[in-house]
Amino acid sequence: MPLDIIVGTQWGDEGKGRIVDLLAAEADAVARYSGGDNAGHTVTVGDQIFKLHLIPSGVVHPHAQAFIGNGVVINPATLLSEIEQIQQAGIEVHPQRLFISYAAHLITAGHLALDRAQEAARGKAKIGTTLRGIGPAYTDKVARRGLRLELMRDEKRFVAALREHFETVNQLLQRLYQEEALDVEPLITEYVGYAQAIKPYIADVSALIAEALAGGKRVLAEGAQGTLLDLDHGTYPFVTSSYPTAPGALLGLGLGAACVDRVIGVTKAFQTRVGAGPFPTEVFDQTANHLRGSGANPWDEFGTTTGRPRRVGWLDLVLLRYAIRVNGISELALTKLDILSGFNEIKLCVAYQADDHSYQIPPFGPTELDSFKPVYQVLAGWKEEIRSCRRWEDLPLNARQYIRTIEEACQVPIKRISVGPERKDVIVLA
Ligand code: IMP
Repeated sequence: MPLDIIVGTQWGDEGKGRIVDLLAAEADAVARYSGGDNAGHTVTVGDQIFKLHLIPSGVVHPHAQAFIGNGVVINPATLLSEIEQIQQAGIEVHPQRLFISYAAHLITAGHLALDRAQEAARGKAKIGTTLRGIGPAYTDKVARRGLRLELMRDEKRFVAALREHFETVNQLLQRLYQEEALDVEPLITEYVGYAQAIKPYIADVSALIAEALAGGKRVLAEGAQGTLLDLDHGTYPFVTSSYPTAPGALLGLGLGAACVDRVIGVTKAFQTRVGAGPFPTEVFDQTANHLRGSGANPWDEFGTTTGRPRRVGWLDLVLLRYAIRVNGISELALTKLDILSGFNEIKLCVAYQADDHSYQIPPFGPTELDSFKPVYQVLAGWKEEIRSCRRWEDLPLNARQYIRTIEEACQVPIKRISVGPERKDVIVLA
């Protein structure tokens, strides 16, 4: 059964939206399986730019059904405003096209307030979260006091659950963080209003996708964030609170493992991260300015969700090999290769060094990375602008060498290379 999973191999922002866009054209359905509106997917269609945080970005293909799975946490205000944004662009979104799992959890104003209070209380040790309430919403889920979407189908139960939730939040805000309490009653009215609008979209996503797959339909599971932000497999504690890795797609959509066809890892041609945490190949100064851009262009390295400048560095093959292992990646897509044009030399981190040992993969996962020194292979750069390249042969020799070096080091084929911001700026390899 044909389920394709797209995962980010780095710290998010790999340009997954571009690859999703390509593959969604051939898919019957697209699905989000983890995270919430902390993600930001920018998809450019002609002169329209969509910035989506929650709804699967493949929704811009009008033929595809869209699903949001049980692994996702949903801010109802964001959901409704995205539905409106897409509708205003002339693309239909309605309850026969978008299906949201009854078991997905809600993010409330209480979770947003707690995210802010917790980050402030962490002081210097702050994670640098997106302040979207993600951590507190997943905390409530694991603590078995979360608000599942199914509650929205029964107003009486929903109101009672909301009241209990906001009262607990207020206790925490006041007693633990010395913050002001939230005004509960207007919030209850607000959330009951959201329930009216969202109720028609609530569905059994696991059953619907399983049925689609059994009928031979191709489903694309769209990863958000990236492997190194995975709660278990990322750079803990500088991670998000969900499972962006490929197994998270099965868990977050309610599917068994037998349906997986391809796991496509998306890797930027260099490394970026927003927020705090280890970053062995980070660079500064001129090189960083080149990689990051000035912020004048939509593709420059500034957060889609928060607008923060991203930290940048050379591609880290040690972490990429690790991501290939924990996701079971069968093929790679390389994005933003065009940004590397103009460097005299390009570095690739091929190993880590600590004491007298060289490591191909971090020995205890990617948590304690500060003690390792990156070992670089220095490759010759290229000066040519490559945005108009459409075939492998069109790429400068040194760019081809760069790609071959990555493939050889990872033993996984690179099948798609994005060379510019437009939909058409891509090289597809056999
Ligand atoms: P949270 O997911 O808002 O709790 O943030 C936890 C960490 O994950 C922070 O370092 C965020 O910057 C990072 N993060 C969360 N979502 C994304 C994303 O979509 N792209 C890049 N970084 C993200």
